Amino acid sequence: MELNLATLPDYLHRRHEEIRIFEPETQLRIEEIGDGNLNTVYRVSDAARPERSLVLKHAPPYIKILGPDYPLSTERLTYESRALEIYNQLVSGTVPAQYDFDEEGSVIAMEDLRDASVLRDDLISGSVDTAVAEQIGRFMGIVHSQTYVDNVPETTAQHYRQQFANTTMQSITADYVFTFPFTEHETNFWTPGLEPDVQQLKADTGFLQQAVHLKHIFLTAQQGITHGDLHTGSVLVQDNTAKVIDAEFAFYGPVGFDIGLYWANYFLSFFSHQDTSHVQSELKTAIVQTWHTYTAEFKLADSGLKAETLENIFHDAIGFAGLEMLRRLIGAAHVKDIESIVDLSRKISVEKAALQFGTTLVKQHQSLHDIAAVIAML
Ligand SMILES: Nc1ncnc2c1ncn2[C@@H]1O[C@H](COP(=O)(O)OP(=O)(O)OP(=O)(O)O)[C@@H](O)[C@H]1O
Ligand SMILES: [Mg+2]
Repeated sequence: MELNLATLPDYLHRRHEEIRIFEPETQLRIEEIGDGNLNTVYRVSDAARPERSLVLKHAPPYIKILGPDYPLSTERLTYESRALEIYNQLVSGTVPAQYDFDEEGSVIAMEDLRDASVLRDDLISGSVDTAVAEQIGRFMGIVHSQTYVDNVPETTAQHYRQQFANTTMQSITADYVFTFPFTEHETNFWTPGLEPDVQQLKADTGFLQQAVHLKHIFLTAQQGITHGDLHTGSVLVQDNTAKVIDAEFAFYGPVGFDIGLYWANYFLSFFSHQDTSHVQSELKTAIVQTWHTYTAEFKLADSGLKAETLENIFHDAIGFAGLEMLRRLIGAAHVKDIESIVDLSRKISVEKAALQFGTTLVKQHQSLHDIAAVIAML
């Protein structure tokens, strides 16, 4: 079934028993709101009472922006639905409520986070709310610690591994985060002034070894339920409350990957604000606070917590953060925080500094022991 603006009214009518938000005779307004690459996202509201609404996310059997010649399994939405379900059990209020999942049609009907802003846009505008970072730290801390392999019975871990064996999406990340950016690949691009830095990086064997090591961890560590795409575009902020969306990459993996991705996008924001020291200082505080609320949840959840558990998560997170920064500078998918800088010489200077820092994180991730030491390097 191809879901689009023309077929949606009929779909909603057929599915109203399951979705249970609108009466069958309700006059509905439908608009496309998604700005993503993979899927289509719609807002459906009651024409007479627009405050009654929901969001529909549909995964076509291909990559939306590239079209049907680029197939991609619709199973990605099954993983997103499973993640939403478990997030709603563990940390309700931090994700949209899920009203319905139609596996056959690959559609999720969920709570509309009306009037929310995308965290990335808030950071770009220089609005940094430490409470948001704390809430995301808490979200990750609860999900990771309560699904952590050492904290649950083996049968539960086995169940998670099987429910979140999202290998298709995991291998996309393996390619686009860990491999393609550091090889010759047609999807890579960068600002021409960055050429010498990119060549130097690609010839740095110490760096390349660490990238291979981190890729191995990414592909083999099975620690806890990992969102898999928790950058600042996957966080919506509604009434000062952070909400996590877009869990189609969720898998049972190395939990430090979520922290690393999240931090990397704060670091990129940090470099993009190189002329605004008060914003940079707030970003640093937010990064530190994320770790504090994260570790607090781990300590609460696990009385027999081994010292090396959080140490290892931290090392992995720092290495992943470095790779995420680099792929956002020289890989296929860049970030608006930096792409929107119009002054070319300023953009290059931001990119050079971010590239340097990302490289250092990857190379030194095993010897950096706490977040304060990392922040001190900025
Ligand atoms: N529950 C929701 N409430 C309000 N807006 C939402 C909701 N879910 C998604 N959106 C809007 O739709 C956009 C795209 O959603 P989402 O990131 O889930 O789609 P995607 O196609 O998977 O994107 P990507 O290609 O980045 O992976 C979000 O940035 C947000 O603006
Ligand atoms: Mg997505």
